[in-house]
Amino acid sequence: MTNSETRRKWDAAAGLFDLVGAFGAERRWTPVKRRLFSGMEGRVLFVAVGTGLDIASFPPGSDITGIDISPKMLAKAEPRAANYPGTLSLHVMDVHEMSFPDASFDQVHTSCTFCSVPDPVGGLQALRRVLKPGGRLRMFEHTGSRIFPFNAMLNLMNPIARRLGPEINRDTVANVRAAGFEITCVTNIFLDVVKTIEATAPA
Ligand SMILES: C[S@@+](CC[C@H](N)C(=O)[O-])C[C@H]1O[C@@H](n2cnc3c(N)ncnc32)[C@H](O)[C@@H]1O
Repeated sequence: MTNSETRRKWDAAAGLFDLVGAFGAERRWTPVKRRLFSGMEGRVLFVAVGTGLDIASFPPGSDITGIDISPKMLAKAEPRAANYPGTLSLHVMDVHEMSFPDASFDQVHTSCTFCSVPDPVGGLQALRRVLKPGGRLRMFEHTGSRIFPFNAMLNLMNPIARRLGPEINRDTVANVRAAGFEITCVTNIFLDVVKTIEATAPA
């Protein structure tokens, strides 16, 4: 999938995204996200902001730069960003082609992002470029499974899911490693499908 196809797909999803995401899933995972994001320190890059549902879980007073490839998703995030009690700037930007200089950020946070980025290893390598050496990557992601029958179900449903939104059978832990990060902690939240991944950019 090209980057412009990705933008079109997420622009099309923007209208209904909050309706689908804001209630069950978002309420269920909010405590986990709050804990993960509570470690925000220094200059933080957040990829990808989407409609800004995660903003309510950001700790107050942080210095956050948020990006997303979809202008329509970000337009929905604007009012949420305006109410954030800290510094939060939003930019329409593709993670594969970020305009930030090397080593701009102390931390990168993601939330259901690398199910959706078209070239996950390339996108993660781009995050390594903008992170300071020793900088932290903290991710809340859903992935494929190694447990039968969940792996079979996710593989079966993936062709439909990816047309409307995310891929649901990726091995994001392996992708983080392949991009050259050192993994420090993987915590399964629901089966081995919803997880947090913490990693460090090599010094
Ligand atoms: C499943 S949504 C998650 C949004 C938000 N983090 C949340 O959990 O509510 C995936 C997001 O990734 C964004 N995205 C996909 N490919 C991207 C890319 N190459 N660069 C930046 N953002 C991208 C989409 O526009 C979409 O907003």
